[in-house]
Amino acid sequence: METNTNIDWANLSFGYMKTDYNVRCTYKDGKWGEIEVSESEHLNIHIAATCLHYGQEIFEGMKAFRGKDGKIRIFRMDENAKRIQRSANGIMMAPIPEDLFSEMVKKVVKLNERFIPPYGSGASLYIRPLEIGMTAQVGVKPATEYTFLIFVTPVGPYFKEGFKPTKVAIYREYDRAAPCGTGRWKVGGNYAASLSAGERAKSEGYSAVLYLDPKEKKYIDECGPANFFAIKDGVYITPKSGSILPSVTNMSLQQIAKDLGIEVECRPIEITELTECQEAAECGTAAVATPISRIDDVEAGKSYTFGSDDEAGPVTTQLYNRLRAIQLGDEPDTHNWVTIVE
Ligand code: PLP
Ligand code: COI
Repeated sequence: METNTNIDWANLSFGYMKTDYNVRCTYKDGKWGEIEVSESEHLNIHIAATCLHYGQEIFEGMKAFRGKDGKIRIFRMDENAKRIQRSANGIMMAPIPEDLFSEMVKKVVKLNERFIPPYGSGASLYIRPLEIGMTAQVGVKPATEYTFLIFVTPVGPYFKEGFKPTKVAIYREYDRAAPCGTGRWKVGGNYAASLSAGERAKSEGYSAVLYLDPKEKKYIDECGPANFFAIKDGVYITPKSGSILPSVTNMSLQQIAKDLGIEVECRPIEITELTECQEAAECGTAAVATPISRIDDVEAGKSYTFGSDDEAGPVTTQLYNRLRAIQLGDEPDTHNWVTIVE
């Protein structure tokens, strides 16, 4: 298959680009219908639909890669299928059966094959599944009709620095999620709640906000669009918290760390423990593993620094390289994380 030669693959940012097709499926009368292929970038939504009023919206994010062998690989699609089910149950939407999810993902990737960035470009095809409540009603209750759709878009690095250290900010006056709230699900409202702090961070020269636990403001939670990990005396430490999104990338990095003989601890991390860490990073599908060279706890007037401003630390680099190699098919997929699209 020819790739789209008009795209400057190496200089793509993390943004939306129109592709050829998206795929859609409707839930009605208690069941999911047929998969539809659409060329339209628009949806026709009732003005009283629950997604517009009461935030019944959930989404996912994953990536497809073109390998050196020319094959298309989708990374850990099954985990995203499970997570969107948890998100759906979390805010009372119709869960998407795993086989429907994976059939639609494979279909939309194949249909837009010419938008998959070539091997070596550093870019990938971002896959964005989303589900919305469609029933027209004014009372606060779950919809009975839903639309699930998936579009794709070729993307470059989420942070313009790429695999280079960034700075993140802690602002104690904002939370993105409540202790027993929706932070553990991929719900659109969580991102609305993060916009104000996120824009402030960007305007003050930070790549992202690092949130503390919303109850005590004592432990590290996660970044706006990514989980957090640090390397402390050779150990991979990452927060355990009920208000963060369980990241597929973090889960994968933990396994890779273990494979490399690196000890892993998933537990509450007090902010003061950062002084004992040599490396820090934010990790996610979009962020991959982005090193953090400095965390400013702005209102507290404290800063934590890690390694150099120009280069990722050795453990983060090792983990990043192994993850990318598995995604691209350069190293064996020993944990069956990759789905090859024929
Ligand atoms: N945390 C938040 C709030 C996110 O939006 C994301 C992105 O999906 C992540 C963590 C990372 O999750 P994953 O690695 O599954 O992409
Ligand atoms: C992802 O990493 O897939 C995300 O969803 C992060 C952000 C773009 C919301």
